[in-house]
Amino acid sequence: MNKNILILAGDGIGPEITQQAVRVIEKLNEIYELDVSITHAAVGGSAYDQYGTPLPESTLQAAKQADAILLGAVGGPKWEALDISVRPEKALLGLRSELSLFANLRPAILYPQLADASSLKPELVSDLDILIVRELTGGIYFGQPRGVRTLESGEKQGYNTYIYSESEIRRIGKVAFESAQVRGGKLCSVDKANVLEVTQLWRDVMTELAADYPDVELSHMYVDNAAMQLIRQPKQFDVMVTGNMFGDILSDSAAMLTGSIGMLPSASLDDNDKGMYEPIHGSAPDIAGQNCANPIATILSVAMMFKYTFKRSDVASSIELAIGQVLDEGDRTADIHSSQYELLSTEEMGSKIVNVIS
Ligand code: IPM
Ligand code: MG
Repeated sequence: MNKNILILAGDGIGPEITQQAVRVIEKLNEIYELDVSITHAAVGGSAYDQYGTPLPESTLQAAKQADAILLGAVGGPKWEALDISVRPEKALLGLRSELSLFANLRPAILYPQLADASSLKPELVSDLDILIVRELTGGIYFGQPRGVRTLESGEKQGYNTYIYSESEIRRIGKVAFESAQVRGGKLCSVDKANVLEVTQLWRDVMTELAADYPDVELSHMYVDNAAMQLIRQPKQFDVMVTGNMFGDILSDSAAMLTGSIGMLPSASLDDNDKGMYEPIHGSAPDIAGQNCANPIATILSVAMMFKYTFKRSDVASSIELAIGQVLDEGDRTADIHSSQYELLSTEEMGSKIVNVIS
């Protein structure tokens, strides 16, 4: 394959979980003779401490040159008082925007072995498999003008701009329709078209696109209702597509339905399926450095990388199978542990997975 993967370990538990993912990549390299090389660069708060910026130019260049990126997590209380322009989160936003990673795929899958971890009744969530497709480089996150200004009265006023052009809506729409085609054939587009013009346009473009995908059943839902339906009857959804901010919120809710935020990977893709892959949980500063975090979301992010960027579904499947087997055998990290199971450290979980990959 001769590909380069850039590891951006970041902050908090980022280094320990990406370390386990690297062990998995090295094992795959051996078995499949992949010829994948690995490089590292600094990002987030740790980059700020070292270079005075959460996204150093050298990191950005390395990210542009890499074939795929694996990111651990960024942020933590240590950097919360910093100005918003240099907060660790800025690095994420910068990478997304500089690399045009507009398509964020966030699966919420309930592993049958973890059915009792959800806060909802098992019958509501058993076999749950939702894919949230979130637009990631536009909307209110990036809209101009933005800022805080002082009015003539002396009062301060904060403002942001919620903006989407047709082409931005269409390109994320295509990703969502195509995802639905290879899944359950259902797509729910989430908006606030009863109030916001920008999302009326969103709805119109999605409706127009639907003509090109007769095999996909498109529905529309207001975001407040979608938030409710996700909790009320989550299995009604197959693929959901929405803008940047609604996607941020709904994907956290969807993740929690599975009861195990430590299990969920994500992909952020550009037009050519180059991607940045990351676990959806954060940097978990409270448990950082304790060797107890769950590395599975990060390792599943590597599986997504092989599937979407490297087009090696065979390699992706071998990772997923290994994780299924380890769960079957009753191995659990603290976040998904209960008394009948074997309690493993981050490193032990990594070793187990590495050992069963074949
Ligand atoms: C996410 C996170 C980020 C976002 C933050 C950390 C900037 O919440 O990836 O969902 O809002 O996109
Ligand atoms: Mg979020």
